Amino acid sequence: MLLRGKHVVEDADGNLHETRRPVSAVCRCGKSALQPWCDGTHKVLPERDRP
Ligand code: FES
Repeated sequence: MLLRGKHVVEDADGNLHETRRPVSAVCRCGKSALQPWCDGTHKVLPERDRP
């Protein structure tokens, strides 16, 4: 999921993360090592596990 502009994203532990780029990608598959941000891991997941 892409966010444009300034946003605050809450992760699963309740921590808040501010966007720092004009466009930020939020992980929707739950597998990124950089939660809550997408690191591209979703691209190598089996199709049934993709968001
Ligand atoms: S959506 Fe989870 S790594 Fe990209």
